[in-house]
Order: sequence, then C-alpha cells, then structure tokens
Amino acid sequence: MDLPFEPYRIKVVERIPLISRSERITLLKKAGYNVFRIPSDAITIDLLTDSGTSAMSDKQWAALMTGDEAYACSRSFDDFADTIRNLFGYKHVIPTHQGRAAEGILFSVTLQKNAVVPNNIHFDTTRANVEHCGAIALDCVVEEGLDPTLEHPFKGNMSLARLEAAWQKYGPEKIPFVMLTITNNSGGGQPVSLANIRKVSEFCHARNLPLIFDACRFAENAYFIKMREEGYRDKSIEEIVKETFALGDGCTMSAKKDALVNIGGFLCLNRDDWAEEATNLLILREGFPTYGGMAGRDLAAIAQGLREVLDFEYLKYQIGQVAQFGEALARYDVPIIKPVGGHATYVDAMAALPHIPQPQFPAQVFTAALYLEAGVRGVEIGSLMFEHKDPETGEIVYPAMELVRLAVPRRVYTHTQLEYVAEACARVVTMADHLRGLEIEWEPPTLRHFTARLRPVAGGEFVAEGDRIQKS
Ligand SMILES: Cc1ncc(COP(=O)(O)O)c(C=O)c1O
Repeated sequence: MDLPFEPYRIKVVERIPLISRSERITLLKKAGYNVFRIPSDAITIDLLTDSGTSAMSDKQWAALMTGDEAYACSRSFDDFADTIRNLFGYKHVIPTHQGRAAEGILFSVTLQKNAVVPNNIHFDTTRANVEHCGAIALDCVVEEGLDPTLEHPFKGNMSLARLEAAWQKYGPEKIPFVMLTITNNSGGGQPVSLANIRKVSEFCHARNLPLIFDACRFAENAYFIKMREEGYRDKSIEEIVKETFALGDGCTMSAKKDALVNIGGFLCLNRDDWAEEATNLLILREGFPTYGGMAGRDLAAIAQGLREVLDFEYLKYQIGQVAQFGEALARYDVPIIKPVGGHATYVDAMAALPHIPQPQFPAQVFTAALYLEAGVRGVEIGSLMFEHKDPETGEIVYPAMELVRLAVPRRVYTHTQLEYVAEACARVVTMADHLRGLEIEWEPPTLRHFTARLRPVAGGEFVAEGDRIQKS
C-alpha cells in the first residue's frame, strides 16, 4: 500500500479511551442519540471535527511560552497581524475568539433584515449567523457539487448562473456582498478552483459587490489547486494563497482549522467603514482590537501555525491521509462522497440506509450506530443540521444530501486508527436493516444539532435485538 509519509515524528502521546459496547449503549441512550452529548472520555476515535483538534507543533508550543500577554498592542498581535497581512493582503485584521465570532460581527455590521447572502454553501454557523440578522443565506454551489457520486475536481465551485439568478431576483438593494467557502465544508470539503474564484470575483466587482472568503481551509484549497488545476503545479502554496485572496475583499477565518491551533479566529476587511464598525462591535463583544477574545499566546501560536500550514510536505501528507481513509471506506463498500474532500470523508447516509426517510434523520442514525459499534464519533450533516422552513413559502426544506462527516484532526491519528474506523463503518452498513429511524424528543430554537435529544421512532429499540453484529 502506498501510504502517505508523515513529515514529522511524535514527541508526546495521549492515551485514548477504550470503552465496552454495553457502556456505549448506556451512554448513547443517555445522550439522546446525539454524540455531541457524549463525554470525550468515552470516545475512542474522535472524528467529530477537524476544528480546534489539531496537534500543535513544537514551534507552536514554544510560541505559547513566549506569547506577550499585554492588554494593548502586544508583540504577539504584531506577529499575528503581520503574518495575516502578508499572506491574505487585506488592510484590516480583526482578531476574534473563533470563526463564528468573525461571522457574527461582519453580519451585524453589514446585513439588514431580508438581505441576501449568496455563498457556494453556507456552513451551519454561517447560515445561523446570517439568519440571526433576519437575512437569507442562499446556497449557489454548482450542480456537480450536489451529486455525491460524481467525480469532479472542483465540486465546491460557485454556479455563476445561480449567482446571476440571485442578482436578478434580489439586486443591489438586497445583496451586500458574496461569500465563497474554501474548501466547501458542508458540500463535502470540496475545493474551489482559481478559475471559478476569478469568475466570481469579476462578477462581484463588475457590480460593486465585495467578495468575502470563508477562509477556514484556505491552504488545503490551495493544495488542491496546485495538484488539480492546470497551470499551478509549479507554483508554491504561498503563491496560490496570495493569488486567491487578491481576488477578494476580506475574509472570515476560523484559525481552528488551517492555522493549526485549538482556538482562535479573525476577520479581515479592506473596507474602512465596515472595519471601523466591526472594531467597535469587537470591543463590545470580544475584547480590545489587539487581542479580540484571545490570549497573547494564542495569537503567537496562530502566527506560527499559518507559516507551517504552507508547507507542501505537510499538506501532501494531511490530504493524502484523508484520501487514504476514503479509499479504505470504498474498499469496504461504504458509500462515500467522491472525490474525498480535504479535511474529511463523508459517508452518504441515504445510500447506506435507504430505508430511513429524511424526516427520520438517516445520517444521525448512522452516526449513532457508528458510536455504538466502535466508539467512533462522527457528525451528522443532514436534516438534523439543515432542515429548515422556506422563508418565502413556509414549507419544510430538506437538504439535498444526508451526510456523516468523518473529519480527520490534523497530525493526530495514525493510518491504523483510521483503518479501524473504516472497518466499523462497514459493520454499520451491514447492520443497516436492523437500525431504526430517529425522531426529535427535544430541540432548541437554533443550531439544534448541537444539543437536541432524539429517540427511536415509535418507541422501539434503536437496533433490533439479536440482529446486530457483535464486536466490542
Ligand atoms: C467552513 C466553516 N466556516 C465557519 C466555521 C466556524 O468556525 P468556528 O467553529 O471557529 O466558529 C467552520 C467550523 O467548522 C467551518 O468549517
């Protein structure tokens, strides 16, 4: 097997919990079939998210020790802001404690009620923050991006036709800017090509619309451009990143992904008026403009992480490991989104559990069964997360896909551990017929997937007794 080579050696290890199946059954019931509610001490392999779960490097840990904790104008902020300005090229750098805080601040200063924000696909917190302002989050990804079996190099691309249709329908009164999520997390971690970014940028700038990137996985997007797009093979990751961001006017960023840290984020803007209002709000919500909800040491670790993530060998390994994981799943006949994304593989739960209809949350059923079978935690990206009422017709809208995301934390798990997960997914597929759908027992008013409690439909057992495959 041609395994990707780890360009680092291990200096510190952490024992992982091994939990019996009977304990897992009890925990799952207690958690209302929502794996967000299960203690991490009861999780063997945690693929819930790649966000804030990276292993930091020795240089990042060293940066923590030398972080400057001055309240105002610390040297750690200078390093943070200089690194970001050098890479992204935007005028204003506004530190926030994580990505959604950057989104919340940006949307609060730019969105009126009934405004419309087009994006390839809004991530859940982005959608929720847009809607919290009474605005509409409009997804405009290309048709290929909605077909889970289609092999296409850039399934995260924005459809220019959909964007044009949105412009025709809502016009400049309603649309204050356009967003582009790189890579497109909710659509399977799929990249956006530079050709597409350029076209979207031209579209926006011809209409005086700022283009704002959701930049969480910008380096992974650049890696895909280098490997898949004609004309970029000989360019460095840094060159591609700079070319990308030069086409936009700002970005929101969760540093918990491609800045390789456990907490942090920022908002970048070119527009002075928006930046001024955002900074005022930052002081109210997050903190002084040179720390914005983070410690000085966090700023220092982010600056170091942003330098490290540009390393081609690191990206080749990281994305190679995820691709290898996808190949293992495919080998076990687990239906997955193709091609495999940058930070995660996505199981197609509608294909895996065809007997469970969307109102019974097939992807949540798969997620719960995977925990039950192997102590592995993934996350549902389907109806539990995205079902919503159409703001115009009031009808319930189900997402186009029911996915289980298995996100791979950066520099954390080994090939053997991911092989174990692939095998566990295969067991869930095998026991599919014996799994029952779920229904909501309790839900909060927004972002329900984080805390909702569910139960098997019609009061039955989640797994038909005696039929499951025993292995613990
Ligand atoms: C594409 C995208 N945007 C925004 C966010 C929100 O970032 P955070 O979790 O730091 O608030 C995430 C987090 O997973 C994401 O994947």
